[in-house]
Amino acid sequence: MTRYEAVFSAMPRGMDLLNNQELNKGSAFTDEERTELRLHGLLPPHVEVLEEQVVRAYEAYQRKGDDLERHIYLRALQDTNEVLFYQLLLDHIVEMTPIVYTPVVAQACQQFSHIYRRPRGLFISYPLCDSIPALLRNRPNPNVDVIVVTDGERILGIGDQGAGGLGIPIGKLSLYTLFGGIRPDRTLPIVLDVGTNNAERLADPEYLGWRHERIRGQVYFDFIDRFVQAVKQELPGTCLQWEDFATPHAAPILQRYRDELLTFNDDIQGTAAVVVGALLGAVQVVGRLLTDQQIVMFGAGSASIGVADGLRTAMTDAGLSEQDARSRFWLIDSHGLVYSGRGDLTPEKAAYAQPGGCVCGWPRTANGRIGLLDVIGRIEATILIGLSTVGGAFSEAIVREMARKTPRPVIFPLSNPTDKSEAKPEDVVRWTEGRALMATGSPFPPVYYGGRVFPVSQCNNVYIFPAIGLAVVASGARRVTDGMMLAAARELGANSPALKDPAASLLPPLTELRRVAAEIAVAVGLQAQREGIAPRMSEEELRRKVQATQWIPAYLSFTGGGKA
Ligand code: NAI
Repeated sequence: MTRYEAVFSAMPRGMDLLNNQELNKGSAFTDEERTELRLHGLLPPHVEVLEEQVVRAYEAYQRKGDDLERHIYLRALQDTNEVLFYQLLLDHIVEMTPIVYTPVVAQACQQFSHIYRRPRGLFISYPLCDSIPALLRNRPNPNVDVIVVTDGERILGIGDQGAGGLGIPIGKLSLYTLFGGIRPDRTLPIVLDVGTNNAERLADPEYLGWRHERIRGQVYFDFIDRFVQAVKQELPGTCLQWEDFATPHAAPILQRYRDELLTFNDDIQGTAAVVVGALLGAVQVVGRLLTDQQIVMFGAGSASIGVADGLRTAMTDAGLSEQDARSRFWLIDSHGLVYSGRGDLTPEKAAYAQPGGCVCGWPRTANGRIGLLDVIGRIEATILIGLSTVGGAFSEAIVREMARKTPRPVIFPLSNPTDKSEAKPEDVVRWTEGRALMATGSPFPPVYYGGRVFPVSQCNNVYIFPAIGLAVVASGARRVTDGMMLAAARELGANSPALKDPAASLLPPLTELRRVAAEIAVAVGLQAQREGIAPRMSEEELRRKVQATQWIPAYLSFTGGGKA
C-alpha cells in the first residue's frame, strides 16, 4: 500500500469528514469523492470550486451587522473549512486582517465566554498543573511548528482577560498562516489559565476560565517552568512565542528561557524589529547613513529602549564604536532629557545618557527639565520617534523646527491608541510641506496634500512575526537571537516600497506581505547559520525550503482510492 493509499484508507468518511476543518471541502467535493467517501446526500448536489465558495462566503460575511459578528463568522468558517477560510482572507486581506486580529480581536477576547463555539487550541489551567505533559499530548495534531502562548494578563490595550486571552494566540496564528505560510494544522494556540483579577470576568456567570484570582510570585514562575519543561519534552524543536504577558513577567520569562529553547517574545523583540526596520527603510529612502543620524526619542520606556538597542546594534555593526553609537541618541522621559547629571536614571536609560557637560547651558523649565522643543532646537535632529503615550506632543513648533533643519525629517509618532499618537499624520505632512517620512503606531488613512496622496504606514508587528516563524521552520534554527531580529528588520527596511517610488508607503502593503515574509525568512535563516544555530545550506537551498514551507490554501484531491 502506498503512503497515499494508507492515508486515504485512514481518512474519515461521511459526517466525520465534513466535521474535519482540515480536510473538509464542503460543496467542492467532486462526485467521485462523494461516492468514495460516503458523502452523497449529505451535500447539496451542485459541485462547486473554491473560487465559487469564496464568493458565497464573502456574501455571508457582508451580511453581518458589525465587526464582532464578522469576526465570529470568520472564526466559525475557520473551524469548518480551513482552506476556504484562508482563501477568503487572502482575497480580502486588507479588509479582513483587522477583523481576524487587531483591533477586533480585542472585543473577541472580552466577549470570549459569550461567543465561544468550538474548541481550538489548549487551555492549560493552574488546577491541572500536575498534568501539563498529558494536556500537551491531547493536542489536536501531533506535529507543531509554532505555539503562541499567553496568560491573558495584558491583552492589547484592554488588560486582564483571563482565559478569554486565548483569542489572541488564535488570531495571531491565523496571521502566521496567512502571511508566513505556516501550515494551519501545525499551529497551536495556548492559554495558560492562571486565574484573572478582572472583577467583571470573575462576576460573569458565563465566564469559562478558572474562577480564581491570579497566582503570583514563585508559584507563578514555577508553573511557567513546568509548562516550558513540558513543551521541551513533548514538542522539542517547536517555536514557542510568548504573547501579551504583563511587563513584570514578560522580560524575566524571556531572559530565563531564550537560551534554553526556540523561543521569542513578540511584544519585546518583534515590536522593536518592526520599528527598527521602518527606520532603516526611511534612512535609505532619504539616502543617508544610519550612523550619521541624530535620533530623538520622546518617551524612554520599554518600547523606546528596545528600539534604541536595535538601532545601536545596527550602528555598531556598521562600524561605529559603542560610545559613538550611544552618543547619537537623545532620550526624553517625563523628567526631560536623559543626561548624566540626573540622579533618577535606571541602568537601561543611563546607557543612553548624554554627558551633563554638553547640556549645562541649555534652557530649562521651572522644575529644571530640558524639554523636547529645546532638544530639537539645540541639535541637528534628523529622526524623531514618539513612544511616550502623550497625544499631540509633537507640536507645530517642534515639527517645523525639524523641517527647517533637515530636508527630509523622519518623524514616527508611534504611541497607541490613536488619541495618544504624538501627532496626526495630516499635521505632520502640512507642517513639513510633505517632506517628512512617517510611520505611525495606530492605523491612519492616507493624507491628501498639495494634489498628492501620502500613504501612512503603520508599524505593525505583523511585518515580523510570521516571517520569523517561517524562518525558523524552513532554516531549522534552534534559537531566536537578537541578531536574527536585526536581520529581519534590515530586510523589512530593504523591502520599503518608497525606495523604488517616492510616492509609495514606507512599509509594504499587506497584499505584498507573503512575498516580503519569504524574503525576511531567507535573511533570518542566513543569519541563524552565521551564528551557528542552524544547519548549513546555500542561500538557494534555503530559499527553496522557504518556498516549500509556505502553505497555500488549495484543496487536495481524494479520489481513485489513493491516486492524487
Ligand atoms: P512605557 O510606559 O514603558 O513608557 C512611556 C515613556 O514615556 C516613559 O519613559 C515615560 O517617562 C515617558 N513619558 C510619559 N509622559 C511623558 C511626558 N509628558 N513627556 C516625556 N515623556 C513622557 O510605555 P511603552 O511600553 O514604552 O509604550 C509607549 C507607547 O508606545 C504606547 O502608547 C505603546 O502603545 C506604543 N508602542 C507602539 C508600538 C508600535 O508602533 N509598533 C510598539 C510599542 C509600543
